[in-house]
Order: sequence, then C-alpha cells, then structure tokens
Amino acid sequence: MPDNLAWITYIRWGEEYNSDILRLSVLGNNLIIVNSLEAASDLLDKRSAIYSDRPEMPMLNDLCGFGWNLAFRPCDNTWRNGRRVFQHELGPQVVKRFRGLTEQAAHRFLCSLLREPTAYMDHLRHMASHGVMRIAYGIEVAEKNDPYIDTAARVAEGIVAVCRPGAYLVDIMPFLKHVPEWFPGAQFQRDAKAWRKHMTDQHEKPFKAVKERMISGDAPDCAAKSLLESLECGDNTGSYTEDDIEFALGSMYAGASDTIVSTLGSFILGIVLNPAIQTKAQEAIDRVCPDRLPTLADQDNLPYIDAIVNESLRCNPVIPIDIPHRSTADDIYRGYYIPKGSLVLANAWAILHDEKAYPDPLRFNPDRFMKDGRLDPAVRPPDAAFGFGRRICPGQHMAHEIMWIAVACTLAAFNISKARDEHGREIPPSGEYDVGFACYPKPFVCDIHPRSREHEAHVRATMDEL
Ligand code: HEM
Repeated sequence: MPDNLAWITYIRWGEEYNSDILRLSVLGNNLIIVNSLEAASDLLDKRSAIYSDRPEMPMLNDLCGFGWNLAFRPCDNTWRNGRRVFQHELGPQVVKRFRGLTEQAAHRFLCSLLREPTAYMDHLRHMASHGVMRIAYGIEVAEKNDPYIDTAARVAEGIVAVCRPGAYLVDIMPFLKHVPEWFPGAQFQRDAKAWRKHMTDQHEKPFKAVKERMISGDAPDCAAKSLLESLECGDNTGSYTEDDIEFALGSMYAGASDTIVSTLGSFILGIVLNPAIQTKAQEAIDRVCPDRLPTLADQDNLPYIDAIVNESLRCNPVIPIDIPHRSTADDIYRGYYIPKGSLVLANAWAILHDEKAYPDPLRFNPDRFMKDGRLDPAVRPPDAAFGFGRRICPGQHMAHEIMWIAVACTLAAFNISKARDEHGREIPPSGEYDVGFACYPKPFVCDIHPRSREHEAHVRATMDEL
C-alpha cells in the first residue's frame, strides 16, 4: 500500500495496467480502487443498494466510541434516520433558512481579518465552527479557547491517530477488542479510553446545552430546536428518535469544520498564486454590488464566485480518496467478480484531474467552468469531491452556502497577494499540502488588506450585527 499521495500512485498503476479499476489484496481485505467517474458512478451511484456500507472499524467505532458518527457507521437504521435528520434541516431548499446566520459567520471572518490578517487560517476555522455550531445548536462559540472547538480539535487528532493504516492491531484482529484494559500489551485500550471521552463529549455536551435552553425557554432558532419540536408534536412520523438527532447533529460539526477550512485555504492559495482571478472576481462583484458587501441572494448574478468555489473543491480535493464503501453482496462488473465485503475506494483526485473533463488539470483556473459570462453547463461540476451514492455528503448544500459567501465577501472587501520579505521581494507559497484526515495547504504567509477605506467601512458596519 502506498503510504503517501496514494491517489497519484493509483493513477500510475491504472496507466500501467491500462484499467480504471484495480484490485488490491491488503491484509485479507479486498480493495477495489476506482479511478474514473464512469466506474465510480456505475458502482457507487447506480448500484448503491449494495455499495453503501462502511468497513468495520473496531478501534475507532467500538473502542473509541465514535460509532455514533454517520460517516463511519454501517448502513443501519440509525444511519438512515440520521440522513433523514440532515435532509430535514440541511436539504438544498431548507438550508436557505439559515442564510442570515451563514452571512453573519462570514462577516465575523471579515472583521477578524481586519484585526489580524496573518492569522487567516485560524479565522477560517473559527468561521466554520461558528457557523455550524450556531446553525446546529444555537451556540455562539467563544473567540478564543472555546471548549467545543477544543473538543473538536482533540477528536480530529484522535481520528488521524487511530485511522493511520496499521496503527492498531485490533483493526486487523477485531477479537482483540475483548482484551481487558489491564492486560499486558493492551495499550490500545488505554488509548481508546482517552479518545473516547472527547468523542463522546462532541455529541453529548452541545446537545445537552441546547436541551437545557429549550427547557428554560431561551433557545434561539436552530436545527436542534426545530428537530426536537418536530419530535414533540409527532411531525417526524416516527422517522427519527432523539438519539438519531443527537448523533446527526454531532456528525454535522465533525463533518463540516476541516472540509470547509481546507477548501477555503485552497481558495486563498489559488488567489495568491493567480492574481488575475482576484481582479476578474472584483470587477464582477463591483458591477453587481458596487456599494455594499455581497449576500447569498446575489448568487445568480455572480457565477464567477461559483466557479472559484468549484475550482477550490476540484484542484486540491480535501478528501482525495473517498471514504471506503463496503459491498454487501457479490457482484460482477465488466466481467470482474467483486466479492461481498469488498472495500470500494473512489479516487476523487483522479476523477477531478481527468484531463478530458478538465484540461490542464493542475492549473487553478476557475474560468474552465465559465462560458459567455455564465457557468458552462457542459463542464461537469466537481461533485466527486462530495462522494457518491447513498453516502454522498449530506452537508454539501450547507458547505456551498458557507464557502460561497466567504469567497464573495473576502474578495469584495480585501486584496490578497503574496507577502514580501524585508527587501521587498515576494515570498511565493510552496503550494504544497499536508495530508491527514483532510488535506490542508501547508501554512503560507500572504498579504491581506482592505481594498480601500470605503471597503473597510463596509466590513466595520457589520460589527453592529455581531
Ligand atoms: C467542502 C466541504 C465538504 C466536503 C468536500 C465534504 C466531503 C465529504 C465526502 C467526500 C464524504 C464521503 C462521501 C462518501 O462516502 O461517498 C462526506 C461525508 C459526510 N459529510 Fe461532508 N464534506 C463537506 C462538508 C460537510 C458539511 C458542511 C457537513 C455537515 C454540515 C458534512 C457532513 C458529512 C457527513 C455527516 C458525512 C457522512 C455521510 C454518510 O456516511 O452517510 N460535510 N463529506
């Protein structure tokens, strides 16, 4: 198994064997690597009835207790109900009711950029956390040392540590999970106990907080409140329980933060390396809203912002290899036998760098999505970044809203460019990425300042609403 940039190795192997599907046998697991949209869609979308389970993850799900999270759960009733909860609150149309909150989170980000532009990645993280916690639970996270954000950071560390291939023998020999904590060599049980606390806190604590506020009558409008109310009045028609709501809301925060932060980090990197894109976007924004910040209601008139978001998702996908889908029945595809229990890994990086769909694929070029001033319907949007079939990301509509407004407002109010050293020479970012649970641009310095006093005033005017 390649341990670094596996997606590139899989493309190379695909070329060597002249096939867009590959089979690897790894420690008794049958891995099917899928390098093309056609094969990914044939298996994971069209045959989703048998390709939607997840692999067993004894260390993460059973011992660390992260099995509540939808992303790693098998295809069971809790998972199905959790997806209904997402649909209830974050479906493509319903999510729009949170637009005011999404815009507020973006405005906070702009104000933080004015104050401390060099810490833009911290501000992005704060914006994503603020938006999701406010929408999911009605919770306003603190500017610094927020307990919910700290918990999420510990959980993310835990996932990376636990999911490193070969990190824990119990994932290869699941019967070891019954070994007691005191047993010599059972360090994995003690590690799991330490992670379990954070992983449980992540869904329990904010949910408890919102329920207490509902009892005292001061819970603001949020997803948790409307879902719990729908339970009370029986509107849910039995399709989910209180536990399902708790787990789905916990999965919102866990799924949203890294993915949004990394994609917006890619956006900033793309602009620093390609200043002409910024000029073009600012011309478009100035035409549509010359004397104010853009809002989500401007989306139809600003297709170039969509193109920038698309390119930020495509060029360096946050999750280059989709979370594995496990098959639940024997199957035959193009004459190949795929036994039940196989793990299918869609190579999103390969699909989003397919030269036929995206010529010169390594270049950050939002214009590839445009034609005659509109989004070109002939160019396929980077949907593969959000996965496939019944497991497709249920937060994609919310993610799009948060990223769109962040990109539009940042470009409306600020100029982003390469930083300079003490001799006035530009410092080019390396453009490299760190690989963990999500891929992140390696930290780079850049210069971010308001476009003019007037633009600064637009940002300052939003401070009243915060
Ligand atoms: C740039 C933003 C995002 C990207 C690129 C992204 C990408 C993905 C991908 C690739 C998957 C796996 C799909 C599969 O297995 O085929 C996924 C699953 C998931 N995502 Fe996202 N995501 C993003 C934002 C969000 C947000 C904002 C939320 C919550 C509000 C969220 C919640 C989830 C959940 C709960 C799952 C698990 C779904 C399941 O297994 O049924 N994601 N996401």
